[in-house]
Amino acid sequence: MDFINIALPKGRLGEKVYSIFQSVGYECPSIAEENRKLIFENPQRGVRYFWVKPTDVPIYVERGAADVGVAGKDILLEYQPDVYELADLGIGKCRMCVAAKKDFHDTMGRTLRVATKFPRIAQEYYASLSRSIDIIKLNGSIEIAPILGLSDVIVDIVETGKTLLENNLEPKETIVDISARLIANKVSYKFKNQKITDLCGRMEQFCRLQAEQERSKAT
Ligand code: PRP
Repeated sequence: MDFINIALPKGRLGEKVYSIFQSVGYECPSIAEENRKLIFENPQRGVRYFWVKPTDVPIYVERGAADVGVAGKDILLEYQPDVYELADLGIGKCRMCVAAKKDFHDTMGRTLRVATKFPRIAQEYYASLSRSIDIIKLNGSIEIAPILGLSDVIVDIVETGKTLLENNLEPKETIVDISARLIANKVSYKFKNQKITDLCGRMEQFCRLQAEQERSKAT
């Protein structure tokens, strides 16, 4: 049987994403088992899932180890993988921001020190402003950098804003809005086109309905 291989981002977003796949007919009951397994399949439905680090999803998809996957737009902008971006799922919404201490004002006179997990996004943003910067690439807990004087600002994801608030920082500018995207390997898209377009259509329809329901609940 020809499986469709799906890379899921480990963590909160991945749980949400799997529940959508499940709702639209790609369930895989073994995934709910409490164990350390990373690959699950349901031969009846022809699906195989892998849990991978969110930043690795595009790597699996680009190289064809997965046919499709779900990745945040932040990761796609940063790593620019050679994949098709099929759909905006409208979940995992957040924004890429410049943040700094509340009393920070950019004096423009000197190079701005920017701590981030997203050097390309930061570089491109400041290049568009013709602002010279010094990138300090970190791998997590970015909010600490301005507090300890390692950087002037950070470029990072803001979802609820709680992490910034609790560390006495505030968002200064929004660079880009982020949400989760369904991506596909280019060769798979050609050779498993029917399966992938069917899956994509169902996902899009489900996400559109959910968004409509949320909007009508809010009004
Ligand atoms: C992300 C991001 C912020 C936080 C924002 O960190 O880097 O630190 O979430 O969320 P909030 O606005 O809802 O507070 P993540 O959890 O990925 O951990 P990290 O420190 O490893 O980057």
